Amino acid sequence: MEKFVIEGGNRLEGSLSIKGAKNSMLPIMAASVLSGSSEGVELHNIPDILDMHVMARILQSLGTRVKFNDNTLQLNVDDLHSYTISDELMREMRSSIFLMGPLLARLGKVRVTYPGGCSIGLRPVDLHFKGLEAMGARIREEKGYIMASASRLRGTEIHLDYPSVGATENLMMAAVLARGKTVINNAAKEPEIVDLQNFLNAMGADIRGAGTETLRIVGVEGLGRCSYRIIPDRIVAGTYLMAAAITGGRLLLKEIIPVHLDAVVAKMREAGVEIKATEDSLEVIGGELKGVETLRTLPYPGFPTDLQPPIMALLAVAEGNSTITESVFENRFKHVNELKRLNANISVEGRTALIKGVKKLYGAEVETTDLRAGAALILAGLAAEGTTVISQIKHVDRGYERIELDLQQLGAKIKRI
Ligand code: EPZ
Repeated sequence: MEKFVIEGGNRLEGSLSIKGAKNSMLPIMAASVLSGSSEGVELHNIPDILDMHVMARILQSLGTRVKFNDNTLQLNVDDLHSYTISDELMREMRSSIFLMGPLLARLGKVRVTYPGGCSIGLRPVDLHFKGLEAMGARIREEKGYIMASASRLRGTEIHLDYPSVGATENLMMAAVLARGKTVINNAAKEPEIVDLQNFLNAMGADIRGAGTETLRIVGVEGLGRCSYRIIPDRIVAGTYLMAAAITGGRLLLKEIIPVHLDAVVAKMREAGVEIKATEDSLEVIGGELKGVETLRTLPYPGFPTDLQPPIMALLAVAEGNSTITESVFENRFKHVNELKRLNANISVEGRTALIKGVKKLYGAEVETTDLRAGAALILAGLAAEGTTVISQIKHVDRGYERIELDLQQLGAKIKRI
């Protein structure tokens, strides 16, 4: 199994352009099955990450032709000949649940298994099912499979118990071809939801309100082709800002949408990091790290849960104490024990971690438990004295395109073995 080997202590310096957002790409790839046009869909700014290849395999298994090169995806839904997603593919990536809405909308039926939970929690999909049933889908379980069917979904008013990103996206995609109007209240407001709305509207859908807590979708007869560029990845951007900050370096990030990182920049400034912002770039220019009293992860526009592990690594070497409360997922502290192997001083009480800043981290052998935990370990390794060896790095490759190459060109001593 591949590993990263990092010699810590080097300051990161330079500039970087950030590729397209994984969490935009995945629902948008799933939504491509809604296109009735033989010319299909062309997606730009697509990162070459593992999750993209898994979603491509799922789409191919349904009858879509997929071509990827030079960060552009061409998807042609010639003959959607299947409505079943294999157990093996479902287990590989929980985002396959995003295909329920589009396949129900397009074919009137879909068969999936429960998406694999992962190390950050159970990841239930009850809100997805409740919304689809409210739109007229019949959902039942048989032999471990979930079978959903609907002659034609009908528009309705849905109130989400929690502003779930995935449920909001799945229901938006189900509603675009439904009969009549759908209103989704307490919808998630993430930028990736706005990206999905803009993509679907580019194909001829009629959706308004993404980015607010109320979505309005008027069903249309069919969707056509489109060519679309996805937004930059705010979580990858935040990860690199923190990598620069933890090494006391300087980093200019270009081609990003700084407003998507408002909560992250505010918290990093509170932690002593000096950051310069323009309308399409952010630059870390230095600063002495200090602890932050309280950091609580929240749905957008609050501090994103996906940057909780990386900022924990940053605060592990800040002057003073910090507390982090993870309010989105019930079990997203698996990286704590690994950070403690690098000499971090962290204790966990329920959903709150107390971090006591230490002068130094020391290199050690650590293991990646999930995508963002892996990012946190890389940041800690960059700052640690000595050598850090990180295993299970396939998790990192799911969401970061060859992260070691970007870090090397910024001066980090990291290699993949
Ligand atoms: C999306 O996951 C992202 N994944 C996650 O990013 C991100 O952490 C999360 O949103 C929150 O921002 C993609 O977009 C592919 P949720 P999702 O539904 O849709 C509970 C990464 O590292 N819930 O908003 O699964 C759920 O258990 C990944 O890129 C229900 O109870 O997140 C969790 O506690 C990790 N029932 C909370 O809501 C449901 O039906 C937030 O989940 C759905 C969710």
